[in-house]
Amino acid sequence: MLASQSVREEFMITGLDHLGIVAPDLSTASDVLLGQFGFDYDVERTAMPDGNVFAPQNTSIWFVKVGTGATRIEILVPRDDISGIAKYLQKNGPGLHHIGYSSTSVPDDMRTLVEAGLDFIDFGTPEDELTAAFFHPKTAAGILHEIVPDRGLHL
Ligand SMILES: [Fe+2]
Repeated sequence: MLASQSVREEFMITGLDHLGIVAPDLSTASDVLLGQFGFDYDVERTAMPDGNVFAPQNTSIWFVKVGTGATRIEILVPRDDISGIAKYLQKNGPGLHHIGYSSTSVPDDMRTLVEAGLDFIDFGTPEDELTAAFFHPKTAAGILHEIVPDRGLHL
């Protein structure tokens, strides 16, 4: 049995929740997503108009609905020049930052992925209180992966 098969049996990941994109300011992303694609903010998930603050990275975030589907795009705008996200933006410019999957149990899926060899990025939240878990790109095909709670929006 392949390693990926044995891991998959334990997963409770239910789908793609969002793609995270990083931008130097909100308008850089919103001009395209709202202005050109015609998407709307997910106001149930976003404190408007200033966005949510992801404190561990001192970054403002806004969720955008992708058409009528369940998937969201998360716009990340660093609030300083020293966070990991800010440094990513400085190095790579605006663009795709991470993939976020929905999970029926973030702590359980985090432990499963760590057992599978991914490097969990620990922001200090106790495991059983995790509402988001990130895995370092160096152990995940060069991609920053995130798991978040399932919101039950699957089509
Ligand atoms: Fe995210």
